[in-house]
Order: sequence, then C-alpha cells, then structure tokens
Amino acid sequence: MSAMAFSALEVRLLRLGCQRSNAFAVPLRRPYPRFPQPSILGAQKSTARAFQTSSNSPRVPDFAFAFDIDGVLLRSSSPLPRAHKALSYLQEQGIPFILLTNGGGKSETDRVAELSKKLDVPLDLSMFVQSHTPFAQMVEGDGVQEGLRDKCIMVVGGDGDKCRQVAEKYGFRNVVTPGDIIVAHPSIWPFSYNFMDYYKKFARPLPRPIDAEDPSKSLKIDAIFVYNDPRDWAADAQIVLDVLLSSNGVLGTYSSKNNDPSLPNRGYLQDGQPPLYYSNPDLLWAAAYHLPRLGQGGFREALDGVWAAVTGGPQKGVDLHKQIMGKPYQGTYEFAEKLLISHRQALFPKASLPPLKRVFMIGDNPESDIQGGNNFKSPIGSEWYSLLLRTGVYQGGEPAHTPRAICDDVWDAVRWGLNSAGWGAPKE
Ligand code: G3P
Ligand code: MG
Repeated sequence: MSAMAFSALEVRLLRLGCQRSNAFAVPLRRPYPRFPQPSILGAQKSTARAFQTSSNSPRVPDFAFAFDIDGVLLRSSSPLPRAHKALSYLQEQGIPFILLTNGGGKSETDRVAELSKKLDVPLDLSMFVQSHTPFAQMVEGDGVQEGLRDKCIMVVGGDGDKCRQVAEKYGFRNVVTPGDIIVAHPSIWPFSYNFMDYYKKFARPLPRPIDAEDPSKSLKIDAIFVYNDPRDWAADAQIVLDVLLSSNGVLGTYSSKNNDPSLPNRGYLQDGQPPLYYSNPDLLWAAAYHLPRLGQGGFREALDGVWAAVTGGPQKGVDLHKQIMGKPYQGTYEFAEKLLISHRQALFPKASLPPLKRVFMIGDNPESDIQGGNNFKSPIGSEWYSLLLRTGVYQGGEPAHTPRAICDDVWDAVRWGLNSAGWGAPKE
C-alpha cells in the first residue's frame, strides 16, 4: 500500500462520501482593518441551549465547526438537502458551530432569523458572521482609524437601499447610495433612465447636491464601502470612479493631480480621495444557476479594468488602492474564531472548557473557504481543518487550494469531522 496508506480512522472516513487530500496551500498577502467586538453587533445572550456538563452532556468537545452558507447550507435561498440534519445533529450533541459567510446585504438580525426559519434550526447573532460585519468597527474608529459615524459614506451594492439600512444599524449616520446620486443628478450616468423607477423606490435626498460651480458646497464622500454584490455595475462603477478621480472626494470635481508623472501613483489618489472598502472578494459563488455566478469580486475586477483603462493602470505605475475583507483573509477568521470562543463559552457556562483544539471549516469555494481555513494562523493555536464540498462552486478536479478532504455534502463533512475528532458519527 503506497505512502497514502490509510489509518483505520481514515478507512472509516473514506466510507463517508469524502476523499482525503495530501498537500497544503500558499500564504496570503494584504494588510487588514481592525475588527468589531461581537458586542457591537448587539449580540444577545446565546439562545442556543446551554449544556450543563453535569447532567445531559458528559463530554465537552475540544473541537467545533464553521459553516459557509452559499453552496453548503443553501443554494440561492433554498436549503440544501441534509443541511438541517447536519446542524441539528451538532446541536443535539452539544457541539459548537458558527456560520461564516461572504454573503450579506441584510442586517445580521434579519439574516439569522431568515436562516433559522429556512434551516429549521435555532441560530443567533453569537454564532453568525457576514462579510460586512467588520465594517461596524469603523463607526467609532480605533485610535488609528478615525471614526466615520458622522462622516458622509457611500454604500454600494445590495437590493434597493438595504445595505444603507445595515450601515445605519451599525451606527453610521450619514449614508448615501449611488441611487440617491442618480435620482438627484440623472446625467451622472447617461443611461440612468432605464432604472430610474427602481432607484426612485428607495432614493433619499442628498445631504448636499453636486455643485461643479462651487465645490465647497458640493457633496463630499469620506469613504466608499461595497457592502454587497452591486446590482447596476455600470452606474456604480461610474460613480465610484468619479469619486476616486475627484479632488478630496468632492463629486463634480476632477483632481488636477491626476496623471501628473512627477507625483507618486502618477498623481492618482494623491488628493485626499476617500478609501475604498470591499466586504467580499468572491469572484464566483454558487447561486441557483447550475454554474457558478460572478460575485462582488467580479465587480471589483471590472472596476480595476476600467480604472486601468482610464489611468493607464499598473503598466503606467498607477494602482487602485483598496481594502478587501471576508474569507480568505486572516482578519475575518480571527473575528470568527473570537465569536466561536465566546459562543462555546455560552454553551458550557459551568464547564472548565478544554482549549479549542480543532475547527472544521466546511466550504464550497477553494479560493475563500479552503484557502482561508488552510492559512489561518489562530492566535489561540487551534488547528483549522478545511473540508471542501461538491454542492457549490467546486465542480471537481484538483482544487486551487487543497482541503483535508472533499465531501459530497455538508452531512458527510460533519461526519468526517466527528470521526476525525474521535467523537464518532452515525453510519448514515
Ligand atoms: O455573495 C455571497 C457569496 O459570495 C458567497 O457566500 O456563504 O458562500 O461565503 P458564502
Ligand atoms: Mg460558499
């Protein structure tokens, strides 16, 4: 039998619709913004049943699970076959888990309520992380980054102005959307008439008009946040570009420093332009269609392309500075692990908990779930095992980032994890 010989444990694992893999992935780049404490999200006391170690659950697991959502528990908005079984079994066994998604576009409270209903499993805020959850940290700022509570931020993406409502729930008080700008100034995007009825449904009056004559009175954007997949890429790209080419983020202006070879970055983004934040890097995701669809990362790539065409781009030494959050980035996993630790503590209030040794990260996207799980450097030294499913983005073949195992679906992966942790799992 080759070096790949399997231990008795692995033979049992293999009988579960999972295959083991044998190599590990590449390091990540990009710095990372600081993260909000769960308290910022108004995380209420965990509703999940606390386990009295003395009475009904003698064993306290030194492992836990982290579940991706799209392509693992849901396909578009429908629950995947054995998602309920997987989560409810873990709850019966008293095994902690969190949901960790690059999705968003609704408040954490609304999404948790919706998911609990769809999956028919009691879930709460103490076990839930969305892609834009970390943006909540920027309301107060943290001594390094100035708080944005009263600054004028532009929130891009999502249905209608749902993302504005999420931002306001985090505490941002001055939020505009591209839709507000289009309704107030239709000529900013020559084809806006096509979607005007849509925008008029949720647009609000701007805090200031665009005044090209008198920039001191014109609308000034202090930060740009892409909260969720943009619905109108063209108009959103135009308006974000206008802000990034402006002077000081003042719409209607064009910075005189742009394209000045004597300046760094050829003068682009050298004139007080606002920072650009993305909440989710996913180029592709698993929606209802049988093939993966473009995600927020697709918009980012499109904007990068337009920026390069307009400014000369990297070939001319011009960069488009941006900060990207979400899986696979270290910051998101650090935040998720903190949440998992406090959720686990809430589940076993009386127990002296053994350290959290292992976390099974179950995902369908090699680029985000598997790469992130493989490369996460846990501040508490826990080991994250990534398990890749066939129910979403991954469609077979050698994945770009190698998981511990590839499983048919979420129930197989849960059983793989339970067996690998020595907890034991039902045969079927
Ligand atoms: O827009 C959501 C998508 O990018 C992926 O979501 O749950 O698979 O991380 P999820
Ligand atoms: Mg997914």
